Amino acid sequence: MTATVIDGKAFAATVRGKVAEHVAQLKEVHGITPGLAVVLVGEDPASQVYVRSKGKQTVEVGMNSYEHKLSADTSEADLLALIDQLNNDPAVHGILVQLPLPKHLNEDLVINSISPAKDVDGFHISNVGLLGTGQKAMVPCTPLGCLMLLRDYHGSLSGMNAVVIGRSNIVGKPMAQLLLGDSCTVTIAHSRTKDLPEVVRRADIVVAAVGRPEMVVGDWIKEGATVIDVGINRIEKPEGGTRLVGDVHYESAAAVAGAITPVPGGVGPMTIACLLANTLTACCRANALPEPDGLTA
Ligand code: GUN
Repeated sequence: MTATVIDGKAFAATVRGKVAEHVAQLKEVHGITPGLAVVLVGEDPASQVYVRSKGKQTVEVGMNSYEHKLSADTSEADLLALIDQLNNDPAVHGILVQLPLPKHLNEDLVINSISPAKDVDGFHISNVGLLGTGQKAMVPCTPLGCLMLLRDYHGSLSGMNAVVIGRSNIVGKPMAQLLLGDSCTVTIAHSRTKDLPEVVRRADIVVAAVGRPEMVVGDWIKEGATVIDVGINRIEKPEGGTRLVGDVHYESAAAVAGAITPVPGGVGPMTIACLLANTLTACCRANALPEPDGLTA
């Protein structure tokens, strides 16, 4: 079998299109423009690239983008004061504090100081609890993007066996909750899982989010399974230079899978598209307006 390639780049463009359409309507009918504030502390080069990309795409869908760049030695008190100001600013519907933060700042404390209603990352403990109990939450962007791709490809996920490899708070755990919410039978596997290949071979859906380049190989994949690769790893090429690979060994997995996301161009572009979707959702909820269809869990 040669797998169907799930085109996340194209799907993300569709999501952004839907967001832009809804934003235009919000402006025209209600005079409301959704606003996203992104806070970056320090000069981490990868974070700078992400933040620039977020700001650009926010403006492209017609929303207001507010960027706050703080120096690496910003005190916790100053960062918390900025978050408090953003929490109380009616023009700001979504707040994202780019992670990782410099070591002297307590990430949990900072994230939990964001108003849960504006927590477009879905990292606040209230949103984690709401998601875990099947209530209306803000949902982390990368798992939400994976769920959208799976729903688009399969329609219903009910009764499917899903194996999530990785137990991070950002991807693995919320992904498992979302799959459970769509009535999958869910296994969370991780670095201590015994006989991981055998566990993965039972899966109709595999979500790989371990951060280990090309760890999941074709021999682990059940014939016809759907493989969602969340990994983005830069590796050295034998002939020099570097290339991006996922957590899945693409060629061998694509030979047995029914469908697979490539890296790049799979899950990656969905993350920012879902951030924009979450900002729109937060804005609609803040104004007691109907939420757009198909952009939430
Ligand atoms: N750093 C890497 N990924 C993310 C993310 O999804 N949200 C935030 N806030 N920081 C990140």
